[in-house]
Amino acid sequence: MRALLAFVVLFLVGCGSDRTVIGDTMPTPLTKTAGDPARGEALFITREQGHCILCHRVTGLSAEFQGNLGPTLDGVADRLSPAQLRLRIVDYDAVVPGATMPSYFRTQGLTQVGQNHAGQTVLSAQDIEDIIAYLTALKTTTPMGGEMQ
Ligand code: HEC
Repeated sequence: MRALLAFVVLFLVGCGSDRTVIGDTMPTPLTKTAGDPARGEALFITREQGHCILCHRVTGLSAEFQGNLGPTLDGVADRLSPAQLRLRIVDYDAVVPGATMPSYFRTQGLTQVGQNHAGQTVLSAQDIEDIIAYLTALKTTTPMGGEMQ
């Protein structure tokens, strides 16, 4: 019983700050608040924060200019789980060393950071969970099996 209690306490303490990487995934959400896909979509588009749109396209997204330096993210949820998406946004360098894709939640080992931004992450933990919630909805097929428009 005591062992079980210790496990539960450890688990709760671990939640929220556990950045364990397993393979190419980061399984634990960065925050306790579930991601908000609508806010995630807005962050994805804004050039001030996410800049995702600078390099990625998503069909049907209302944004004027969409870049193509990175792969299109249409149907990305068919290819990647939320845990895989999380590690790629937090620190793509951990998946592919030298990746072009910026690391959005890393403060160590960055070289081109202005002094004002040293020690800061590009996006907040909640920003990242919101973006994951948005990307997780980008499936080419609906649960009923029909094609999404
Ligand atoms: C400077 C360009 C650039 C920006 C900005 C950028 N990405 Fe990327 N992204 C890439 C590139 C390039 C890749 C392919 C991997 C690589 O070589 O870096 C990639 C890969 C990815 C992948 C994996 C796609 C797949 O099919 O495997 C995801 C998911 C992703 N980016 C999400 C995002 C999100 C979310 C943002 C904004 C928070 C973002 N990216 C901003 C360039 C960018």
